[in-house]
Amino acid sequence: MSWRVLLAITLLGAFVAAIAFLDQGAAERGDAGYGVPINGERIPPAAMTVDATTCQECHPEIYAQWASSQHHHAYLNPDVRETSADHTNQNCIPCHAPRPVFELGLESMPRSRSTHREQGVSCLSCHLIPGSAAADGQPRLAGSRDLPAGTCGLPVVKTPSLGTYRSCEPCHNQHETTNQWKETAYASEGPAFRSCADCHMERREFSIAKGSAPRLAWDHKMPGSHAREFILSALDIEARLDGSSLYVAVTNARAGHHFPTEERSRAVDVKVEWQDAEGRALGEPQQLYRFRDPYRGEQGITRTLLPHGQTWSQTIEKGAQPAGAKKARVWIDYLRKPYEPVPDTHRFRLFERTVELP
Ligand code: HEC
Ligand code: HEC
Ligand code: HEC
Ligand code: HEC
Ligand code: HEC
Repeated sequence: MSWRVLLAITLLGAFVAAIAFLDQGAAERGDAGYGVPINGERIPPAAMTVDATTCQECHPEIYAQWASSQHHHAYLNPDVRETSADHTNQNCIPCHAPRPVFELGLESMPRSRSTHREQGVSCLSCHLIPGSAAADGQPRLAGSRDLPAGTCGLPVVKTPSLGTYRSCEPCHNQHETTNQWKETAYASEGPAFRSCADCHMERREFSIAKGSAPRLAWDHKMPGSHAREFILSALDIEARLDGSSLYVAVTNARAGHHFPTEERSRAVDVKVEWQDAEGRALGEPQQLYRFRDPYRGEQGITRTLLPHGQTWSQTIEKGAQPAGAKKARVWIDYLRKPYEPVPDTHRFRLFERTVELP
C-alpha cells in the first residue's frame, strides 16, 4: 500500500471521527441546526416540518400504527375523493390534509396544506408547533415532556393540551362530537373522566422510539367507525321476548358522545324479519329504526343519534305481529352510505338474533 493511500485512509478516518464528534456535540447541546441522520442522510430540521416520513426511521411502531389509521388515509380515502369530486371541492382539504393545528391555535379549524397531501392527517398536523407560532420563530414538536433537539431533530416541548379533547376539536367538532362529549360524565373531573385519547388511543406496552425500552404508551391506530368490535364495545343490545311481545333495545352505554357521531353519510339500521315455524319469511323485512344525522338539505328526516347513556327501545305486541309469526329475526347493520343499494364494502352486521315467538 502506498503512503498516499495510507494518508488518504488516515485523513478519511479523522474526518469520520470529527463528524461523529460534532454530531454528538450537537446532540448534547440540543442544537437544532445540524439535522438528524435518517436513512444514512442528514435531514435538515426544515425538511422535518413538511414531511412526516422523516419520523418513520426513529418511530417505526407509532408510524405503522398511524399508517393503518383513518388519519393517514384522510386525503386518499376513496369515499372522501368521491364526495369531494376528487378534491375539486377545496373546502374539504383543511381537515383531510391539514397544516399543523398549532399554527392557528386549537380554537380554529386548520388551514389546507399544499405539500404531501397524501399523508392526510399526519404526525405534523398534530405534533408540529410551526416557527410562525413560536415567539423565537423556531419550530418545535409538542410532546408530554421537554426533550433537546438532538433527540428528534426538532426540540420537543411539554404541551399539556395535546393529550386533551382540545387537540381533537379543530377537526372533530364540525358536527359537534366535542360538544357532545362535554355533555357526558366523561368530561367532568373525577373517577369517570375519560378524554378522547383515553378511549381512542389504547394504552399498551411498546417501544415509542427505536432503541427505547417498551413502556406504557399511546397507540396511534385510533379506531372508530371502521372497527366493528370497537363499535360494539359502546353498546348494550337486547332482542328478546317480553310476555308475547318482541322487545328490542339499543343503549349507548360507553361511547363518549352520541351513537353514531360525526359523519352524516352513516346510518345504523334496526330491522326485523317475521318468519313462520319453518323459518320462511312472512313478507319483506321491516325497518324498526334508523340512527342518523341527516344532511342539511334532506327533507323530512329527523336527527335520531342516540346520546350517551340513553336507550332506544321498541315493543311489538302480539297484535302488531303478522298472523302466523313464530320467529323474529332481528338484526342491526352499520351503513357507511345510507342510500340504497349500499355496497357490501359499506355495510356490516353489528348484531343478529332470532327470537322464538309463542
Ligand atoms: C433521530 C431519531 C428521531 C427522529 C427523526 C424523530 N424522533 Fe421523536 N423521539 C426520538 C426519541 C429517541 C425519543 C425519546 C423516546 C423515549 O423517551 O423513549 C423521541 C420522542 C418524541 C416525542 C416525545 C414523546 C413524549 O414522551 O412525549 C414526540 C412527540 C416525538 N418524538 C415526535 C416525533 C415526530 C413527530 C417526529 C418527526 C417529525 C420525530 N419525533 C422524529 C427520536 C426521534
Ligand atoms: C387536523 C385534523 C384532525 C385532528 C387534529 C384530529 N383528527 Fe381525527 N380525524 C380527522 C379526519 C379528517 C378523519 C377522517 C379520515 C377519513 O376517514 O378519511 C379523522 C378520523 C378519526 C377517527 C376514525 C373515525 C372513524 O370513523 O373510523 C378517530 C377515532 C379520530 N379521528 C380520533 C381523533 C382524536 C382522538 C383526536 C385528538 C387526539 C383527533 N382525531 C384529532 C381529522 C383530525
Ligand atoms: C372541520 C373538519 C372537516 C372538514 C372541513 C371536512 N371533514 Fe370530512 N371528516 C372530518 C372528520 C373529523 C371525519 C371523521 C368523522 C367520523 O369518522 O365520523 C371526517 C370523515 C369524512 C368521511 C368519512 C370517511 C370514512 O371512510 O368513513 C368522508 C366521506 C368525508 N369526511 C368527506 C368530506 C368532504 C367531502 C368534505 C368537504 C365537503 C369534508 N369531509 C370536509 C373532518 C372534516
Ligand atoms: C391525530 C393526532 C395525532 C397524530 C396524527 C399523531 N399523533 Fe402522536 N400523539 C398524539 C396524542 C394525542 C398523543 C398523547 C399525548 C399525551 O397524552 O401527552 C401522542 C403521543 C405521541 C408520542 C408519545 C408516545 C407516548 O405514549 O409516550 C410520540 C412519540 C408520538 N405521538 C409520535 C407521533 C408520530 C411519529 C406520528 C406520526 C407517525 C404521530 N405521533 C401522529 C396525537 C397524534
Ligand atoms: C368513553 C369512551 C369514548 C370517549 C371519551 C370518546 N369516544 Fe369516540 N367513540 C367511542 C366508541 C366506543 C366509538 C364507537 C361507537 C360509535 O360509533 O359511537 C366511538 C366512535 C367515534 C368516532 C367514529 C364515528 C362514529 O360514531 O362511528 C369518532 C370520529 C370519535 N369517536 C371521536 C371522538 C372524539 C373527537 C372524542 C372526544 C371529544 C371522543 N370520540 C371521545 C368511545 C369514546
